[in-house]
Amino acid sequence: MFYEMKDQKGILPRTAENGKMITCESAWWTSGFYPGTLWYCYEYSNDPQIRAAAEEMTSRVEKQKYTTSNHDVGFIINCSFGNGYRLTHNETYRKVIETAAKSLSTRFHPVTGCTRSWNSKKWQFSVIIDNMMNLELLFWAARNGGGQYLYDIACKHAETTMKHQFRKDYSCYHVAVYDTLDGHFIKGVTHQGLSDDSMWARGQAWAIYGYTMVYRETHDVRFLDFARKVSDVYLSRIPEDMIPYWDFNAPELSSGEPKDASASAITASALLELSTYINDSDSAFFYRNKAVEMLQILSSPAYQARNKKDAFLLHSVGHMNKGWEVDASISYADYYYLEALVRLKRLKEKQSILANL
Ligand code: GLY
Repeated sequence: MFYEMKDQKGILPRTAENGKMITCESAWWTSGFYPGTLWYCYEYSNDPQIRAAAEEMTSRVEKQKYTTSNHDVGFIINCSFGNGYRLTHNETYRKVIETAAKSLSTRFHPVTGCTRSWNSKKWQFSVIIDNMMNLELLFWAARNGGGQYLYDIACKHAETTMKHQFRKDYSCYHVAVYDTLDGHFIKGVTHQGLSDDSMWARGQAWAIYGYTMVYRETHDVRFLDFARKVSDVYLSRIPEDMIPYWDFNAPELSSGEPKDASASAITASALLELSTYINDSDSAFFYRNKAVEMLQILSSPAYQARNKKDAFLLHSVGHMNKGWEVDASISYADYYYLEALVRLKRLKEKQSILANL
Protein backbone atom coordinates (compact mmCIF):
# COMPACT_ATOMS: atom_id res chain seq x y z
CA MET A 1 0.00 0.00 0.00
CA PHE A 2 2.88 2.42 0.65
CA TYR A 3 4.09 2.74 -2.91
CA GLU A 4 7.75 2.94 -3.86
CA MET A 5 8.16 6.09 -5.95
CA LYS A 6 11.93 6.24 -6.22
CA ASP A 7 13.27 7.27 -9.63
CA GLN A 8 9.93 8.72 -10.68
CA LYS A 9 9.29 12.33 -11.64
CA GLY A 10 5.70 12.42 -10.44
CA ILE A 11 4.74 12.88 -6.83
CA LEU A 12 1.75 10.53 -6.54
CA PRO A 13 1.06 6.96 -7.68
CA ARG A 14 -1.06 6.56 -10.79
CA THR A 15 -0.77 3.10 -12.30
CA ALA A 16 1.01 -0.21 -11.84
CA GLU A 17 1.59 -1.82 -15.20
CA ASN A 18 3.82 -4.76 -16.13
CA GLY A 19 5.47 -4.62 -12.72
CA LYS A 20 6.30 -0.93 -13.02
CA MET A 21 4.90 1.90 -10.91
CA ILE A 22 3.97 4.99 -12.89
CA THR A 23 3.48 8.25 -11.02
CA CYS A 24 1.72 11.51 -11.83
CA GLU A 25 1.92 15.20 -11.04
CA SER A 26 -0.76 16.77 -8.86
CA ALA A 27 -2.43 18.29 -11.93
CA TRP A 28 -3.29 14.88 -13.40
CA TRP A 29 -6.95 14.05 -12.78
CA THR A 30 -6.16 10.94 -10.72
CA SER A 31 -3.78 12.56 -8.22
CA GLY A 32 -6.34 12.64 -5.37
CA PHE A 33 -7.14 8.94 -5.43
CA TYR A 34 -4.07 7.65 -3.60
CA PRO A 35 -4.46 10.13 -0.73
CA GLY A 36 -8.14 9.14 -0.67
CA THR A 37 -7.29 5.45 -0.56
CA LEU A 38 -5.07 6.13 2.44
CA TRP A 39 -7.94 7.96 4.13
CA TYR A 40 -10.16 4.89 3.64
CA CYS A 41 -7.40 2.70 5.06
CA TYR A 42 -7.23 5.05 8.04
CA GLU A 43 -11.02 5.00 8.44
CA TYR A 44 -10.89 1.21 8.55
CA SER A 45 -7.81 0.82 10.76
CA ASN A 46 -7.55 3.97 12.88
CA ASP A 47 -3.79 3.52 12.48
CA PRO A 48 -1.91 6.81 13.17
CA GLN A 49 0.88 5.83 10.78
CA ILE A 50 -1.62 5.58 7.94
CA ARG A 51 -3.20 8.87 8.96
CA ALA A 52 0.21 10.56 8.79
CA ALA A 53 0.75 9.13 5.30
CA ALA A 54 -2.73 10.28 4.23
CA GLU A 55 -2.04 13.80 5.50
CA GLU A 56 1.31 13.94 3.75
CA MET A 57 -0.08 12.68 0.42
CA THR A 58 -3.09 14.99 0.70
CA SER A 59 -0.82 18.01 1.11
CA ARG A 60 0.80 17.17 -2.22
CA VAL A 61 -2.35 18.05 -4.18
CA GLU A 62 -3.29 21.26 -2.36
CA LYS A 63 -2.16 23.67 -5.04
CA GLN A 64 -4.78 22.19 -7.39
CA LYS A 65 -7.45 24.04 -5.43
CA TYR A 66 -6.81 26.95 -7.80
CA THR A 67 -7.41 24.92 -10.97
CA THR A 68 -9.93 26.58 -13.28
CA SER A 69 -8.75 25.12 -16.59
CA ASN A 70 -10.75 21.86 -16.36
CA HIS A 71 -13.31 20.10 -14.17
CA ASP A 72 -10.94 17.56 -12.57
CA VAL A 73 -10.37 19.72 -9.50
CA GLY A 74 -13.45 17.92 -8.14
CA PHE A 75 -11.89 14.47 -8.35
CA ILE A 76 -8.56 15.74 -7.07
CA ILE A 77 -9.68 17.74 -4.04
CA ASN A 78 -12.82 15.85 -3.03
CA CYS A 79 -11.14 12.44 -2.82
CA SER A 80 -8.13 13.77 -0.88
CA PHE A 81 -9.16 16.78 1.20
CA GLY A 82 -12.85 15.79 1.17
CA ASN A 83 -12.18 12.47 2.85
CA GLY A 84 -9.57 14.08 5.08
CA TYR A 85 -12.08 16.62 6.31
CA ARG A 86 -14.78 13.99 6.75
CA LEU A 87 -12.53 12.03 9.09
CA THR A 88 -10.65 14.82 10.92
CA HIS A 89 -12.70 18.04 10.67
CA ASN A 90 -9.45 19.89 10.11
CA GLU A 91 -10.53 23.50 9.40
CA THR A 92 -7.69 24.14 6.97
CA TYR A 93 -9.01 21.24 4.86
CA ARG A 94 -12.45 22.85 4.79
CA LYS A 95 -10.97 26.05 3.41
CA VAL A 96 -9.09 24.15 0.70
CA ILE A 97 -12.32 22.42 -0.38
CA GLU A 98 -14.21 25.71 -0.46
CA THR A 99 -11.52 27.34 -2.61
CA ALA A 100 -11.56 24.35 -4.97
CA ALA A 101 -15.36 24.50 -5.29
CA LYS A 102 -15.16 28.19 -6.17
CA SER A 103 -12.53 27.36 -8.80
CA LEU A 104 -14.82 24.71 -10.30
CA SER A 105 -17.81 27.05 -10.23
CA THR A 106 -16.02 29.42 -12.62
CA ARG A 107 -16.59 26.78 -15.30
CA PHE A 108 -20.37 26.97 -15.04
CA HIS A 109 -21.98 28.43 -18.16
CA PRO A 110 -25.53 29.74 -17.55
CA VAL A 111 -26.63 29.48 -21.20
CA THR A 112 -25.81 25.78 -21.55
CA GLY A 113 -26.69 25.06 -17.91
CA CYS A 114 -23.52 23.01 -17.47
CA THR A 115 -20.10 23.12 -15.97
CA ARG A 116 -17.64 22.81 -18.82
CA SER A 117 -15.35 19.80 -18.72
CA TRP A 118 -12.59 20.55 -21.19
CA ASN A 119 -11.41 23.60 -23.10
CA SER A 120 -11.35 21.47 -26.23
CA LYS A 121 -10.83 23.05 -29.63
CA LYS A 122 -12.52 20.05 -31.27
CA TRP A 123 -15.92 20.70 -29.68
CA GLN A 124 -17.57 24.04 -28.97
CA PHE A 125 -18.55 23.27 -25.36
CA SER A 126 -17.92 19.75 -24.12
CA VAL A 127 -19.33 18.08 -21.04
CA ILE A 128 -18.20 14.58 -20.17
CA ILE A 129 -20.32 12.28 -18.05
CA ASP A 130 -17.41 11.99 -15.60
CA ASN A 131 -18.21 15.57 -14.64
CA MET A 132 -21.23 14.32 -12.66
CA MET A 133 -18.74 13.14 -10.04
CA ASN A 134 -17.37 16.62 -9.53
CA LEU A 135 -20.74 18.00 -8.48
CA GLU A 136 -20.04 16.42 -5.09
CA LEU A 137 -17.43 19.09 -4.42
CA LEU A 138 -19.95 21.85 -5.19
CA PHE A 139 -22.69 20.30 -3.04
CA TRP A 140 -20.28 19.74 -0.18
CA ALA A 141 -18.98 23.31 -0.27
CA ALA A 142 -22.54 24.67 -0.48
CA ARG A 143 -23.43 22.77 2.71
CA ASN A 144 -20.30 23.92 4.50
CA GLY A 145 -20.35 27.68 4.16
CA GLY A 146 -19.79 28.09 0.41
CA GLY A 147 -23.26 29.46 -0.41
CA GLN A 148 -26.44 28.64 -2.34
CA TYR A 149 -24.98 29.41 -5.76
CA LEU A 150 -22.78 26.30 -5.63
CA TYR A 151 -25.82 24.15 -4.84
CA ASP A 152 -27.86 25.73 -7.63
CA ILE A 153 -25.27 25.22 -10.36
CA ALA A 154 -24.68 21.61 -9.29
CA CYS A 155 -28.43 20.92 -9.56
CA LYS A 156 -28.63 22.67 -12.90
CA HIS A 157 -25.74 20.64 -14.31
CA ALA A 158 -27.38 17.40 -13.15
CA GLU A 159 -30.71 18.39 -14.72
CA THR A 160 -29.18 19.45 -18.05
CA THR A 161 -27.13 16.26 -18.24
CA MET A 162 -30.17 14.14 -17.40
CA LYS A 163 -32.08 15.81 -20.23
CA HIS A 164 -29.50 15.52 -22.99
CA GLN A 165 -26.64 13.14 -22.28
CA PHE A 166 -28.63 9.88 -22.24
CA ARG A 167 -30.14 7.75 -24.94
CA LYS A 168 -33.65 6.31 -24.78
CA ASP A 169 -32.37 3.19 -23.01
CA TYR A 170 -30.62 5.37 -20.34
CA SER A 171 -27.11 4.55 -21.50
CA CYS A 172 -25.01 7.69 -21.71
CA TYR A 173 -22.90 9.45 -24.27
CA HIS A 174 -19.40 10.01 -22.99
CA VAL A 175 -19.34 13.59 -24.29
CA ALA A 176 -22.23 16.01 -24.77
CA VAL A 177 -21.53 18.95 -27.05
CA TYR A 178 -23.51 22.17 -26.56
CA ASP A 179 -23.89 25.45 -28.41
CA THR A 180 -22.71 28.35 -26.30
CA LEU A 181 -24.92 30.95 -28.00
CA ASP A 182 -28.33 29.41 -27.39
CA GLY A 183 -27.36 26.45 -25.18
CA HIS A 184 -28.82 23.76 -27.41
CA PHE A 185 -27.46 20.21 -27.31
CA ILE A 186 -25.60 19.66 -30.59
CA LYS A 187 -24.63 15.99 -30.35
CA GLY A 188 -23.43 13.14 -28.21
CA VAL A 189 -20.02 11.65 -29.03
CA THR A 190 -17.31 9.58 -27.43
CA HIS A 191 -13.73 10.18 -26.43
CA GLN A 192 -12.85 7.06 -24.45
CA GLY A 193 -15.58 4.67 -25.58
CA LEU A 194 -15.73 2.33 -28.55
CA SER A 195 -18.04 4.53 -30.63
CA ASP A 196 -20.41 7.46 -30.29
CA ASP A 197 -23.30 5.02 -29.83
CA SER A 198 -21.66 2.52 -27.51
CA MET A 199 -21.87 2.29 -23.72
CA TRP A 200 -18.41 3.06 -22.32
CA ALA A 201 -18.30 1.10 -19.08
CA ARG A 202 -16.69 3.64 -16.79
CA GLY A 203 -18.87 6.42 -18.19
CA GLN A 204 -22.01 4.52 -17.21
CA ALA A 205 -20.47 3.84 -13.81
CA TRP A 206 -19.85 7.59 -13.32
CA ALA A 207 -23.51 8.19 -14.17
CA ILE A 208 -24.72 5.62 -11.61
CA TYR A 209 -22.51 7.04 -8.90
CA GLY A 210 -23.20 10.65 -9.92
CA TYR A 211 -27.00 10.48 -9.84
CA THR A 212 -26.99 8.49 -6.60
CA MET A 213 -24.85 11.20 -5.02
CA VAL A 214 -27.05 13.97 -6.46
CA TYR A 215 -30.08 12.32 -4.85
CA ARG A 216 -28.19 12.14 -1.54
CA GLU A 217 -27.54 15.88 -1.72
CA THR A 218 -30.94 17.07 -3.03
CA HIS A 219 -33.51 14.46 -1.87
CA ASP A 220 -35.17 15.11 -5.23
CA VAL A 221 -36.85 11.85 -6.30
CA ARG A 222 -36.31 12.63 -9.99
CA PHE A 223 -32.62 11.95 -9.41
CA LEU A 224 -33.28 8.76 -7.44
CA ASP A 225 -35.51 7.46 -10.21
CA PHE A 226 -32.85 8.36 -12.76
CA ALA A 227 -30.08 6.70 -10.74
CA ARG A 228 -32.11 3.49 -10.83
CA LYS A 229 -32.68 3.70 -14.57
CA VAL A 230 -29.02 4.24 -15.39
CA SER A 231 -28.14 1.38 -13.02
CA ASP A 232 -30.70 -0.94 -14.55
CA VAL A 233 -29.32 -0.67 -18.08
CA TYR A 234 -25.81 -1.40 -16.73
CA LEU A 235 -27.06 -4.43 -14.77
CA SER A 236 -29.15 -5.73 -17.66
CA ARG A 237 -26.09 -5.82 -19.92
CA ILE A 238 -23.40 -6.94 -17.48
CA PRO A 239 -21.49 -10.13 -18.38
CA GLU A 240 -22.03 -13.20 -16.23
CA ASP A 241 -18.93 -12.58 -14.09
CA MET A 242 -20.27 -9.09 -13.15
CA ILE A 243 -17.20 -7.25 -14.49
CA PRO A 244 -17.85 -5.27 -17.69
CA TYR A 245 -15.65 -5.13 -20.73
CA TRP A 246 -14.03 -1.68 -21.06
CA ASP A 247 -17.01 -0.82 -23.25
CA PHE A 248 -20.26 -2.80 -23.13
CA ASN A 249 -20.16 -3.00 -26.94
CA ALA A 250 -16.52 -4.15 -27.08
CA PRO A 251 -17.38 -7.88 -27.41
CA GLU A 252 -18.76 -6.99 -30.86
CA LEU A 253 -15.07 -6.52 -31.81
CA SER A 254 -13.61 -9.74 -30.40
CA SER A 255 -14.04 -12.13 -27.51
CA GLY A 256 -10.68 -11.13 -26.00
CA GLU A 257 -11.40 -7.49 -25.19
CA PRO A 258 -10.13 -6.39 -21.75
CA LYS A 259 -12.39 -6.01 -18.74
CA ASP A 260 -12.50 -2.86 -16.64
CA ALA A 261 -12.40 -3.55 -12.91
CA SER A 262 -12.50 0.19 -12.19
CA ALA A 263 -16.02 0.46 -13.63
CA SER A 264 -17.09 -2.41 -11.42
CA ALA A 265 -15.59 -0.89 -8.26
CA ILE A 266 -17.25 2.48 -8.91
CA THR A 267 -20.59 0.79 -9.60
CA ALA A 268 -20.40 -1.48 -6.55
CA SER A 269 -19.78 1.50 -4.28
CA ALA A 270 -22.63 3.47 -5.87
CA LEU A 271 -25.13 0.59 -5.74
CA LEU A 272 -24.47 0.08 -2.04
CA GLU A 273 -25.40 3.70 -1.46
CA LEU A 274 -28.37 3.54 -3.85
CA SER A 275 -29.74 0.54 -1.97
CA THR A 276 -30.00 2.63 1.19
CA TYR A 277 -32.29 5.18 -0.46
CA ILE A 278 -34.90 2.72 -1.73
CA ASN A 279 -37.93 2.10 0.44
CA ASP A 280 -39.07 -1.08 -1.26
CA SER A 281 -37.05 -3.76 0.54
CA ASP A 282 -36.94 -6.21 -2.41
CA SER A 283 -35.48 -3.57 -4.73
CA ALA A 284 -33.07 -2.35 -2.07
CA PHE A 285 -31.89 -5.92 -1.54
CA PHE A 286 -31.52 -6.37 -5.32
CA TYR A 287 -29.09 -3.45 -5.69
CA ARG A 288 -27.17 -4.26 -2.53
CA ASN A 289 -26.85 -7.87 -3.58
CA LYS A 290 -25.55 -6.93 -7.03
CA ALA A 291 -22.91 -4.77 -5.35
CA VAL A 292 -21.91 -7.61 -3.05
CA GLU A 293 -21.61 -9.98 -6.01
CA MET A 294 -19.33 -7.48 -7.77
CA LEU A 295 -17.17 -7.11 -4.68
CA GLN A 296 -16.92 -10.88 -4.33
CA ILE A 297 -15.60 -11.20 -7.88
CA LEU A 298 -13.25 -8.25 -7.45
CA SER A 299 -11.96 -9.88 -4.26
CA SER A 300 -11.24 -13.20 -5.97
CA PRO A 301 -7.77 -14.21 -7.24
CA ALA A 302 -8.87 -13.26 -10.76
CA TYR A 303 -9.06 -9.55 -9.88
CA GLN A 304 -7.38 -8.94 -6.54
CA ALA A 305 -3.67 -8.07 -6.78
CA ARG A 306 -2.89 -9.95 -3.54
CA ASN A 307 0.84 -10.49 -3.15
CA LYS A 308 1.77 -7.60 -5.43
CA LYS A 309 2.46 -4.63 -3.20
CA ASP A 310 1.62 -1.88 -5.68
CA ALA A 311 -2.17 -2.19 -5.89
CA PHE A 312 -5.32 -3.81 -4.58
CA LEU A 313 -6.93 -4.59 -7.95
CA LEU A 314 -5.80 -5.87 -11.33
CA HIS A 315 -7.40 -5.48 -14.78
CA SER A 316 -8.60 -1.95 -15.33
CA VAL A 317 -8.57 0.08 -18.52
CA GLY A 318 -7.68 3.77 -18.50
CA HIS A 319 -7.90 4.96 -22.09
CA MET A 320 -8.28 2.17 -24.62
CA ASN A 321 -8.35 4.39 -27.69
CA LYS A 322 -4.97 5.87 -26.79
CA GLY A 323 -3.54 2.57 -25.57
CA TRP A 324 -2.98 4.01 -22.09
CA GLU A 325 -3.29 1.79 -19.03
CA VAL A 326 -4.84 -1.19 -20.76
CA ASP A 327 -5.28 -4.12 -18.36
CA ALA A 328 -3.50 -2.23 -15.59
CA SER A 329 -3.84 -1.57 -11.87
CA ILE A 330 -5.11 2.00 -11.60
CA SER A 331 -5.39 4.19 -8.53
CA TYR A 332 -9.08 5.01 -8.94
CA ALA A 333 -10.05 1.33 -9.14
CA ASP A 334 -8.39 0.84 -5.75
CA TYR A 335 -10.01 3.97 -4.35
CA TYR A 336 -13.59 2.97 -5.19
CA TYR A 337 -12.94 -0.66 -4.24
CA LEU A 338 -11.84 0.35 -0.75
CA GLU A 339 -14.67 2.86 -0.52
CA ALA A 340 -17.13 0.09 -1.36
CA LEU A 341 -15.61 -2.28 1.19
CA VAL A 342 -15.76 0.35 3.93
CA ARG A 343 -19.36 1.13 2.95
CA LEU A 344 -20.31 -2.54 3.07
CA LYS A 345 -18.73 -2.94 6.47
CA ARG A 346 -20.69 0.04 7.75
CA LEU A 347 -23.93 -1.31 6.29
CA LYS A 348 -23.36 -4.67 7.93
CA GLU A 349 -22.81 -2.85 11.23
CA LYS A 350 -26.10 -0.99 10.63
CA GLN A 351 -24.38 2.38 10.44
CA SER A 352 -25.03 5.04 7.80
CA ILE A 353 -23.20 4.49 4.53
CA LEU A 354 -20.48 7.11 5.09
CA ALA A 355 -19.09 8.32 8.39
CA ASN A 356 -19.64 12.04 9.14
CA LEU A 357 -21.27 12.78 5.84
N1 GLY B 1 -12.29 10.78 -15.91
C1 GLY B 1 -11.52 10.10 -16.87
C2 GLY B 1 -11.77 8.65 -16.90
O1 GLY B 1 -12.68 8.14 -16.29
O2 GLY B 1 -11.01 7.99 -17.58
